[in-house]
Amino acid sequence: KPAQTFYDAVGGAETFRVLTARFYEEVERDEILRRLYPEEDLGPAERRMRMFLEQYWGGPRTYSDERGHPRLRMRHNPFVIGPFERDAWLRAMHTALASIDSDTMDDEHRQQFVDYIEMAAQSMMNSPI
Ligand code: HEM
Repeated sequence: KPAQTFYDAVGGAETFRVLTARFYEEVERDEILRRLYPEEDLGPAERRMRMFLEQYWGGPRTYSDERGHPRLRMRHNPFVIGPFERDAWLRAMHTALASIDSDTMDDEHRQQFVDYIEMAAQSMMNSPI
């Protein structure tokens, strides 16, 4: 039988729903982040992020069905992402991750997720300041 995906191992759709909802709550109240997000309504951005993360971690492929290849660096080009933006984004994601309890996500999966977001946020920077 195929190995269980990360997505299934950490509770599937519900976990990704809670994670992205919590993340966008932080975006809403963070002044560095909020001014970066172009739309008044963060709902659609939350949905895109949720679909992307679900797909990345082995869940449903709805993101690519709707949006095509992620090409995340290209999609972030319109936004100036320097170290302050990167750090604000990571802070919000760490806060969101902390809202997922340890029965749902064990330390090993948590560390895997942290390694990914730190690597990916670093690679999304497109400005030295
Ligand atoms: C949009 C993921 C880092 C700011 C998006 C989208 C995804 C995504 C999937 C929607 C793309 C689309 O289909 O249009 C990620 C991942 C990151 C990351 C996985 C790193 C782990 C960052 C950072 C910033 C940032 C560091 C800057 C603070 C934005 C903004 C949008 C966006 C402003 C537009 C919101 C929207 O309308 O979707 N990101 N991102 N992202 N991201 Fe990121």
